[in-house]
Amino acid sequence: MAPTRITPICLLVYLCFFGVFVKSVLGAKARHFKWEVEYMFGAPDCLEHVVMGINGQFPGPTIKARAGDTVVVHLTNKLHTEGVVIHWHGIRQLGTPWADGTASISQCAINPGETFVYRFKVDKAGTYFYHGHYGMQRSAGLYGLLIVDVEEGKKEAFQYDGEFSLLLSDWWHKGVHDQEVDLSANPMRWIGEPQSLLINGRGQYNCSLAAAHNSKGNGVPGCRFRGNEQCAPNILHVKPNKTYRLRVASTTALASLNLAIGKHKMVMVEADGNYLKPFSVNDFDIYSGETYSVLFRTDQRPTDNYWILVGVRGREPRTPQGLAILHYQSTTASKLPTLPPPQTPLWNDYAHSKSFSNQIRASSGSPKPPVNHDRRIFLLNTQNRIDGYTKWAINNVSLTLPSTPYLGSIKHRLTDAFDQKSPPDTFLNTYDIMRPPPNPNSTYGNGVYMLKFNTTIDVILQNANALNPNVSEIHPWHLHGHDFWVLGYGEGMFSNRDEKKFNLKNPPLKNTVVIFPYGWTALRFVTDNPGVWAFHCHIEPHLHMGMGVVFAEGVHLVGKIPDEALSCGLTGKMLMGKQHN
Ligand code: C2O
Ligand code: CU
Repeated sequence: MAPTRITPICLLVYLCFFGVFVKSVLGAKARHFKWEVEYMFGAPDCLEHVVMGINGQFPGPTIKARAGDTVVVHLTNKLHTEGVVIHWHGIRQLGTPWADGTASISQCAINPGETFVYRFKVDKAGTYFYHGHYGMQRSAGLYGLLIVDVEEGKKEAFQYDGEFSLLLSDWWHKGVHDQEVDLSANPMRWIGEPQSLLINGRGQYNCSLAAAHNSKGNGVPGCRFRGNEQCAPNILHVKPNKTYRLRVASTTALASLNLAIGKHKMVMVEADGNYLKPFSVNDFDIYSGETYSVLFRTDQRPTDNYWILVGVRGREPRTPQGLAILHYQSTTASKLPTLPPPQTPLWNDYAHSKSFSNQIRASSGSPKPPVNHDRRIFLLNTQNRIDGYTKWAINNVSLTLPSTPYLGSIKHRLTDAFDQKSPPDTFLNTYDIMRPPPNPNSTYGNGVYMLKFNTTIDVILQNANALNPNVSEIHPWHLHGHDFWVLGYGEGMFSNRDEKKFNLKNPPLKNTVVIFPYGWTALRFVTDNPGVWAFHCHIEPHLHMGMGVVFAEGVHLVGKIPDEALSCGLTGKMLMGKQHN
């Protein structure tokens, strides 16, 4: 009889253990979303305009998840005449390279009426966002935030009482299709500076609140946003004497930005989903493709409101500053700040920007880079003319994407899907980066840098003079599928002697990094994520004009690619049959 008495207890004990096990596995959730992308009317800066929205929202809905969760987005294309894809910017897509959302690279554009399911793990807490990655759909407003909290029961590396998120973008009154045609025309017609800066999709065209605000803070006569909630500035409601986390992400098409909060200091704690060694600032730069978290303390006079100000860096600003309001709960929210808005640095104060970038260090627990590299790729950034068309080129090759996505064509060795010759690893060391490109010998290309799996790659991004004399622009470079270590920045032409200055001790891990005018930036990463990954300038018109390269690593290790991600282009249809065999 004894066994029958013991069995229920055993079962109970067993179930308890099993329960704990199931719970820890179930702690990570699958989070499902059903999204429809369509054009809709909006008024991002108070003027009515067609925007790209998701489920009737612009910007798209914020995804909130916890580290370890699986995000599942059923994306239906409700556009009538164009394809669509969405890229999850900063998510490395470990094991799911087909969910990266890059047209012609990881998948086919989703046709009108069709649905594609993005299923991927958000493995690391941090501030991310998502955006269209087909044509210039990001400029059309296809973007939103993706916030990943630490796993349940775990604590963040720093403490705070509340948090806010600001998604920064820039806005043109000219439609995106017109912009695309302008940029591809011969001669090229430049799109110019944005009409407005948007914070969480809201800006105020032709109504600089800051300049117009009067000393009594009684509101701004004539400002169009009055009564129009859609474009009223965001208000962050805070309590006095608390610490808040502000997550800031920039998905601008063009503008490099600087953010300041009147009277409040900020402490930088996170960049691109990685923790930083905290440092304190009055304002900070943020380039397109970057995210930061800052902490600030509400230690100022609680009877005032304060401006949060966003201004343009690195281009002569023709765009009014973007504004939001920090509102202490003891005052009435409708009252505009009485204090003048904070000063953001002069647009061409590059010393200020460089000193900020050079202060960024990884937090002490962060993974360190390998000390040596296996391969070093030098990428020269130039503006060129090809048959009269204005293009951007990397080592004299201007990227044009193939009709069959690389991921499938490399995995299934479809050698006629793209140029089998790899683009060059370097450029002539006699090239004079201080002058306009002397030779109009750039070409179009769609070749791939084939990287050996599990090796250490260095990339030296080398900036140069554009087509006009004495012009060199800022380019924020973004890598898909990876974080990289930023080893250093320098002026002029990179030389091997500069290697001594690399920071191998505590370089920050990022997925986007800037190259300053006439400068270089060195980064390092390990090819440990099988897939095909875009590496490109995050300025939308620059990418459109060819400013990018493609890396492939360990593609033979990639699992079954969903059919919808393969079957397009000249050779794509053949792939499906192959994969099933
Ligand atoms: Cu956020 Cu390939 O870009
Ligand atoms: Cu660029």
